[in-house]
Amino acid sequence: MEEIIRAVNLVKSFKDGDNLVEVLKNINLSVNTGEFVSIMGASGCGKSTLLYLLGGLDTLDQGEILIHNKDINRMKDKEKSRMRRTQIGFVFQFYNLVQNLSVEENILVPLIMEGKKPASYKKELENILEIVGLSDKRKVIPSRLSGGQQQRVAIARSVIASPDVILADEPTGNLDSKSGNEIMELFRTINHEKKITILQVTHSKEAADYGNRIIRLKDGIIESDNELVRVVS
Ligand SMILES: Nc1ncnc2c1ncn2[C@@H]1O[C@H](COP(=O)(O)OP(=O)(O)OP(=O)(O)O)[C@@H](O)[C@H]1O
Ligand SMILES: [Mg+2]
Repeated sequence: MEEIIRAVNLVKSFKDGDNLVEVLKNINLSVNTGEFVSIMGASGCGKSTLLYLLGGLDTLDQGEILIHNKDINRMKDKEKSRMRRTQIGFVFQFYNLVQNLSVEENILVPLIMEGKKPASYKKELENILEIVGLSDKRKVIPSRLSGGQQQRVAIARSVIASPDVILADEPTGNLDSKSGNEIMELFRTINHEKKITILQVTHSKEAADYGNRIIRLKDGIIESDNELVRVVS
């Protein structure tokens, strides 16, 4: 199994008035290619902070984060943002779609930011629209879509550039349970068929159980980190 993400002795603090609050105290974890990991824990325990650090969206105080064995804090800014754009897909609770762009234009945004020609990604676009079940909505703007559909656009956008890993922060947090399960089924498909590694933060045990492993954070440390045992009948 190839390791894709490693965090070594991560420490992260935030200023709260005059106080410095240590949100992540000493985090060590390793994620292998192909895993589907769920991160759980009480509100405010540092889940989003950890996810953003792993994706290079925030800077850490101490420790190391390695993506494919490369320390992201030793990367120059340009190399780091390129790594973020090409190897990592992000999915957020509130979709973060561009409201005046159509579904397909939203999906193509990461490619355009990379300077790629969308026309050469026609096949990928068809394929991902098919997978997320939005082929018939491709010309529609986000405000005409349900929350679940908007999240599916965000997932398609995170997948279009074929990242190695998707980091998803409460991707079903804003959805009813039926739409939430559809999103989880979609992640499962992407994980299996496209072999993309997934790390999701969730408050839902049901959503967490779609993964192969659950990491629980508490008071800035990893309280438990367990493989889920599947009973095959
Ligand atoms: N940019 C920031 N500046 C100051 N404090 C911050 C910042 N980001 C997060 N924090 C603090 O760090 C702690 C952890 O925040 P974080 O967003 O990681 O929690 P979380 O586990 O994702 O919570 P939730 O489940 O509510 O999303 C919180 O106490 C929060 O107030
Ligand atoms: Mg959070």
